[in-house]
Amino acid sequence: MQLQGRTAVVTGGTRGLGRAVAQALADEGAIVVAAARDVEPDSPDRGGRIVHVKADVTVPQSVADLMRTAHERYGGPHIVVANAGVSRPGPVSALSDEHWEAVIGTNLTGVFHTVRAAVPYLRDAEAGRIITMSSLLGRRAMPGAAAYCASKAAVERLTEVCALELAPQGITVNCLSPGFIDEGQGRDLMANEAIWPRLQGTLAMGRAGTGAEVARAAVFLASAQSGYVNGAVLPVDGGVRW
Ligand SMILES: NC(=O)c1ccc[n+]([C@@H]2O[C@H](COP(=O)([O-])OP(=O)(O)OC[C@H]3O[C@@H](n4cnc5c(N)ncnc54)[C@H](OP(=O)(O)O)[C@@H]3O)[C@@H](O)[C@H]2O)c1
Repeated sequence: MQLQGRTAVVTGGTRGLGRAVAQALADEGAIVVAAARDVEPDSPDRGGRIVHVKADVTVPQSVADLMRTAHERYGGPHIVVANAGVSRPGPVSALSDEHWEAVIGTNLTGVFHTVRAAVPYLRDAEAGRIITMSSLLGRRAMPGAAAYCASKAAVERLTEVCALELAPQGITVNCLSPGFIDEGQGRDLMANEAIWPRLQGTLAMGRAGTGAEVARAAVFLASAQSGYVNGAVLPVDGGVRW
C-alpha cells in the first residue's frame, strides 16, 4: 500500500490503459478520481476507491472543475496522470482538420490543460507527481499516424519542460511511453490482420504488453520509489526492433 493517503486524478481513467492505471493506483491505497467524457458520474469501482467524474480535457474549465472536485472531496490531488488520448489514423494528404484537431486537442493541448490545472494543488502536496502518456509512436514514425505521432512527440518535450519548471515546487513530471499493449487502442490494432503480424515481428518479446504491465510502471512513477526520477520518458514496450 505505497499510495495510502494520496489522491490521484487519472484522465481517461474509465477504459483501456487509464483504467488499468486507475486500478493499480487504487490497489496501492490511493483514492482515484477517474475522469472521462462518457461516464456515469460517481459510479464507484474497486470497493469505492475509484470514483468516476465527467470531464473533457479539451475544455480548460472542465479540467479546472475536475481538479477542484477532487480537492474538495478527497484532498490533493497529489498524483495526476494525463492519460486521455485519441487516435485518428489516415494519410496526411487526406487528414481532415477535424481529425487533426481532435488528436492534437486531446493528446497535446489536453495534457497542457491537465498539467496547468493540477499545479496549484500539487504544489501543496508533499512530493507531487505528474505522469503523462506518450507512445512508442512519439519516437518512431508510422505511416498513417501523422497527428498521433506529432502529438506524442510534443508530449515528451512538454513533459521535459514541465519537469524543469516544477521541480523547485517539489513536483516531478515523468512520461510513460507504452509500445503495443493488449488494451484499448492497442487491442484494436492487434485485431487488424493486415497490420498486426508485421508489427508483432518487431517485438523483442514476441508479444504485446498488458495494461497491468504499464500500470506497474505508473505506480513506480507515482510512488516515493521514484523520488529522484524527473523528466524521464520511460518506454514500456518490451523492446522493439524497428
Ligand atoms: N493501448 C495502447 O496500446 C497504447 C499504446 C501507447 C500509448 N497509448 C496511450 O495511452 C492512452 C490511453 O489509450 P487507450 O488505448 O487506453 O485508449 P482508449 O481505450 O480509447 O481510452 C481512452 C480514454 O480516454 C478518454 N478520453 C478520450 N478523449 C477524452 C477527452 N477529451 N476528455 C477526457 N477523457 C477523454 C476516454 O473516455 P471518453 O471517450 O468517455 O471520454 C477513455 O477513458 C492514450 O494517451 C494513448 O495514446 C496507448
